[in-house]
Amino acid sequence: MKSEFNWEYAPAPEAKDHIKLKAQYDLFINGKFVKPYSKKYFATYNPATEEKLAEVAQANSKDVDLAVASAKNAYDKVWKKMPAKERAKYIFRIARVIQERARELAVIESMDGGKPIRESRDFDVPTAANHFFYYAGWADKLEYAFPNRNPQSLGVAAQIIPWNFPLLMAAWKIAPALATGNTVVLKPAESTPLSALKLAEIIQDCDLPPGVVNIITGFGDTGAAMVAHPNVNKIAFTGSTDVGKIIQKAIAGTNKKATLELGGKAANIVFDDAPINQAVEGIVNGIFFNQGHVCCAGSRLFVQENVAAEVIQKLKARMETLIVGDPLDKNTDIGAINSKEQLDKINEYLKIGSKEGLELFQTSASVPKKGFYCKPTLFIGAAQSNRVVQEEIFGPVLTIQTFRTIEEVIEKANNIPYGLSAGVWTDKGSKIFNLTSKLRAGVIWANTYNKFDPTSPFGGYKESGFGREGGLHGLMPYLKF
Ligand code: NAI
Ligand code: MG
Repeated sequence: MKSEFNWEYAPAPEAKDHIKLKAQYDLFINGKFVKPYSKKYFATYNPATEEKLAEVAQANSKDVDLAVASAKNAYDKVWKKMPAKERAKYIFRIARVIQERARELAVIESMDGGKPIRESRDFDVPTAANHFFYYAGWADKLEYAFPNRNPQSLGVAAQIIPWNFPLLMAAWKIAPALATGNTVVLKPAESTPLSALKLAEIIQDCDLPPGVVNIITGFGDTGAAMVAHPNVNKIAFTGSTDVGKIIQKAIAGTNKKATLELGGKAANIVFDDAPINQAVEGIVNGIFFNQGHVCCAGSRLFVQENVAAEVIQKLKARMETLIVGDPLDKNTDIGAINSKEQLDKINEYLKIGSKEGLELFQTSASVPKKGFYCKPTLFIGAAQSNRVVQEEIFGPVLTIQTFRTIEEVIEKANNIPYGLSAGVWTDKGSKIFNLTSKLRAGVIWANTYNKFDPTSPFGGYKESGFGREGGLHGLMPYLKF
């Protein structure tokens, strides 16, 4: 289906000749890059081209030991004792250098993870800097944030992050930990380690006391060793619900505090009184941009029956205009799927949905032959019992269900193991307030979608995890009272 808005765009690639990547990256421990005890390295690839970008160290349990010891030492001897307003200056400095090196960070983020440069340049990197700015401001005001409660830091935080927002998740984790006086061992995901290693260079340039932030690379076993380490006081994890459950079991009966930000399967609900064109834009933004690699993606669309035909027709027309391809092209809407494994998982769900008898719609866009790509996809006529409705796909795949009444849509939206986010599109404020009080989701957007701000708390219900990141709430998991 071609739309009247289906213009051709000339290529507009972002330059990458200014990017300097080393062939090999070591572990950032105690303020220095050190070789891993394991002596092992693994490759990280550009999923858009399947080219190897660099090799990074594979930390084993001895390396984890060293990183935790360095964080503990820095906590006991330096960071815990430092006046909060001095700590704030370091955090502020990190924010400033992220801004100065924004272009480089954005290009690296898109190369290593496959996300469109528009997203990394306009969202990931500026929002990461904003998180450091925001939490720098709280560092010396904890007494005001929690009056008469004498907030105290915890110690060493082990932070494990996923591949969908590598730099931003590092910022979400590191900034509040430092502001509250804790020290950090952070592990980025194995497919996207490079922006975190650049952040390590930035932290070195900012002269943070050695050991306050340690950044180590590796796979799940490295993460598991961090979780199990006896000198770790707090665990912050973002990733799959399966690993979240493993972590919760591993720390049961210990004193370790944890926040888990896990999967999602958000309902995006469009009522017949909604501004339909805006809603269509919000649906597209909610699931297709960033390849659906978003835990709060609006992956389940609920449309009121009497406007369903119109919404679906307009959605298909808008989808036809989406450009799938080179993440470094400034016109690209949908970049590369992060890894072959993730693409295989998405393709498996495309088969499952078709087998479940759903109508599949994919745009006619061509996708590059090399690299991992998936066209934006709809499953029309979906039902609550379909696996593609119940399970997290984490790709540009949207299921569409219709509803007649508010009660029905609340029931269906909530009838899912997850509860991270939701969207509501309506002209009526009263309907918005009604739904926001009844939808079991941590974040609910009204007449917009996927909006983020460091001042606003984020986190889930049910199997989407617990604890909040961002805002004043985001300080609490790093404090004892
Ligand atoms: P994952 O949960 O395995 O990986 C996330 C992080 O946890 C990575 O740094 C990984 O090395 C680490 N990890 C893995 N096993 C661990 C363990 N036993 N102990 C401690 N750390 C461990 O996620 P994966 O395999 O990359 O993606 C699988 C699915 O998870 C995706 O298809 C998607 O549905 C979901 N996911 C959700 C995310 C979110 O933001 N909520 C982000 C990434 C994936
Ligand atoms: Mg990569």
